[in-house]
Amino acid sequence: MNEWKNFDVIIKGEGMWLIDSKGNKLLDGIASMWCNVWGHSKKELVNAMIKQTQKLQHSSLFNLTNDQAELLAEKLVSISPGMSKVFYSDDGSTAMEIAIKMAVQYWQNIGIKNKTKFVTLENGYHGDTIGTMSIGYVPSFFSKFKKLLFPVIKTPTPHKYRMPKNFTFNEYQRHCLERIESIFKKNNELAAFVMESGAQVTGGVIIYPPEFQKKISQLCKKHDVLFILDEIATGFGRLGSFIEYQAQKSIPDIVSYGKMLTGGYLPLATTLTNQKIYDSYLGNYEEMKHFFHGHTFTGNPLACATALANLELYEKNSLISRIQNKTKQFEGRIDEINNLSLVGDVRHKGMLMAIELVSNKNKKTSISPDKKIHQKIFVEAKKHKIYLRTLGHIIMLVPPLAISTKELDFLLDGTIDIIKKVTKDI
Ligand SMILES: Cc1ncc(COP(=O)(O)O)c(C=O)c1O
Repeated sequence: MNEWKNFDVIIKGEGMWLIDSKGNKLLDGIASMWCNVWGHSKKELVNAMIKQTQKLQHSSLFNLTNDQAELLAEKLVSISPGMSKVFYSDDGSTAMEIAIKMAVQYWQNIGIKNKTKFVTLENGYHGDTIGTMSIGYVPSFFSKFKKLLFPVIKTPTPHKYRMPKNFTFNEYQRHCLERIESIFKKNNELAAFVMESGAQVTGGVIIYPPEFQKKISQLCKKHDVLFILDEIATGFGRLGSFIEYQAQKSIPDIVSYGKMLTGGYLPLATTLTNQKIYDSYLGNYEEMKHFFHGHTFTGNPLACATALANLELYEKNSLISRIQNKTKQFEGRIDEINNLSLVGDVRHKGMLMAIELVSNKNKKTSISPDKKIHQKIFVEAKKHKIYLRTLGHIIMLVPPLAISTKELDFLLDGTIDIIKKVTKDI
């Protein structure tokens, strides 16, 4: 914090733009932490919030329910193949924490006491709570808490740009899948395999090759390991499909949604399960099969009403097919970005682009942290009227999904110029 004495204070949002207390405008290039869909102050969402605020602001889901939570659960089940039930929470971390607990208790509920372990992919990220730090351990973020975390079995992700040299990409994919199967074969204590759906985002935007996720889902079925997907960052159109696991042909047992569920306006997350998981929790009270988990704001009607209005807008505006056109606008700039001397790799899918900066293109040398490239990019981006945050040396372009062609050009043009400007300092 010594280096960040004063943050600009945002007081207003208009469409794709954030406006600070001095009247400066910034294009929201990261969709306010990857959750904004329509831009800010979208009339339909604000009206839905006002309408619901006037009726019921909050009522708990302990021994009662509320109409908005019921309607949204029905809607989510109807759009999520294979899923039957919805559990609400407030943010992505808790939605994934719930997924972990549900998986462990599922096996206990059906009388299998030893299945308590998790397998995950290296570079995965699932949140900042103790459980999610354990399954999505990012050393640079979490090493201070390592002693508190439970052990998890990690397997490699097929990362084309940074894979071991002695493999072709096809061989490496096979190798990654074989590693998973050999872990499954050797270990009868596995509760679940957990992965981000479609791509790892925080771990460096590593987009899975076709069939990778599908094959893992098949291995899980074959070896009786639950398959848990995290669609918090990648669902609802971010990678170009509404339900990413459907596009990946990989039906999970448990899946979490968050971020864009309310259009990015209110905190709400969900953990969906199939009927098999749900049924294992049914029993008489004294059997203690029920799920001991709930938060004060679980199923908050205001957040659920906003999510319903958001999903209605997706349909009304055919947002997913419109995204598919914008994807081409990203694609059209890849060569240009790749040609910049500081750029080692460009990874892109849907409305997500990562630009990995390196100090030596041929050797793929990462830029040393003492260059503070993240800070230089942020400061230079502000001069270009863009709010941009990097993951260390990786620039992330994650705009609101409904960004206009003109504004997306502004973001892409600006980013190219920003990279050129910081190059001389590296
Ligand atoms: C894949 C994934 N899972 C979980 C989370 C945690 O979500 P939240 O920040 O809402 O707790 C994130 C946040 O970026 C994420 O990208």
